[in-house]
Amino acid sequence: MVTPTPADKFSFGLWTVGWQGRDPFGDATRAELDAVEAVHRLAELGAYGLSFHDDDLFPFGAPAAERGRRIELLRKALAETGMVVPMVTTNLFTHPVFKDGGFTSNDRAVRRFALRKVLRNVELAAELGARTYVLWGGREGAEYDSAKDVRAALDRYRESLNMLTDFVRDRGYDLRFAIEPKPNEPRGDILLPTLGHALAFITTLEHPELVGVNPEVGHEQMAGLNFAHGIAQALWQGKLFHIDLNGQRGIKYDQDLVFGHGDLMNAFSLVDLLENGGPNGEPAYDGPRHFDYKPSRTEDMSGVWDSAAANMRTYLLLKERARAFRADPEVQQALSAAGVGDLRTPTLAAGEGYADLLADADGFDPDRAGERGYGFVRLNQLALEHLLGAR
Ligand code: GCO
Ligand code: MN
Ligand code: MN
Ligand code: MN
Repeated sequence: MVTPTPADKFSFGLWTVGWQGRDPFGDATRAELDAVEAVHRLAELGAYGLSFHDDDLFPFGAPAAERGRRIELLRKALAETGMVVPMVTTNLFTHPVFKDGGFTSNDRAVRRFALRKVLRNVELAAELGARTYVLWGGREGAEYDSAKDVRAALDRYRESLNMLTDFVRDRGYDLRFAIEPKPNEPRGDILLPTLGHALAFITTLEHPELVGVNPEVGHEQMAGLNFAHGIAQALWQGKLFHIDLNGQRGIKYDQDLVFGHGDLMNAFSLVDLLENGGPNGEPAYDGPRHFDYKPSRTEDMSGVWDSAAANMRTYLLLKERARAFRADPEVQQALSAAGVGDLRTPTLAAGEGYADLLADADGFDPDRAGERGYGFVRLNQLALEHLLGAR
């Protein structure tokens, strides 16, 4: 039950288990991890997929032969393990050339270079069978308000997205883009800082149907937002193309902890939503359950693999707990007392307009209605008790 299998669709970024623990204050605490070994180890742990940035697989600016050699090694490891590459992304943040951004750098030559870098890697993503291409604009932003014309930057962001969607359409790739919002870090303020900003931006594109979001637990929580609520809206708008699962404890630097090692109650609600949130209790999301976390720099390599396993185990435990929560008759009674299902009834009757509504003397007594207790606390306590395994 809590042993991961490929059917669970767990995937990991190569940069997650491969993170060497370098931070702004300290050097690497672990040696480099070979991509081939990562594929084998993750497969043994029960994952089904690996994602990567171009520069995770081959060094920035690698000559064609070296790039090709690394790709072949990856292909071989995938064939040996049955692992897939569901998502690919671009590194537009490490090299100094991107210090003021990629698509939205004030320097036009940098913007053109960034777009070419992405186009080349989109081609590779399609060759490897990836279905999602993530765009995390970590360097798209500013520290100083006067240094960035935000409206012009959004024009340039849009221009880039429009070219990318033209590219996949012309090439006939079965690939969609997913924007990953983040409020700050590494830039003081990043453009498209939250899920809501990204969803609004997407409506301005030429091919909005090819662009969705890749929300990360910690990033929304860094902005003080409710991640499960954000995911519900992304699902509601048909825009949850991919997801980055991890843990974060409140409004501070991006922690990228193991999934569940942060706001556990919200992680429970999230898994319940993803797994049981469909109209008839079926999964509401069928894409990769992708972990984007950093094994803490205190860990050695055995701690890295323990933490990778912990992400999947926590997810499966929460899935089991969420199922028990839904199946409990007392929970069903509490949900009904709380009126949770009643919200699905349209406010207006079929064909009813404002004139009918205004004319409706239904005898409603606001003072009586104001006396109603909703029982939300009892419902939440039942959720917590299921989460703790007390029921
Ligand atoms: C972060 C981000 C990154 C991106 C990744 C994809 O923690 O700030 O999640 O890890 O997801 O680089 O481009
Ligand atoms: Mn077009
Ligand atoms: Mn993060
Ligand atoms: Mn991420």
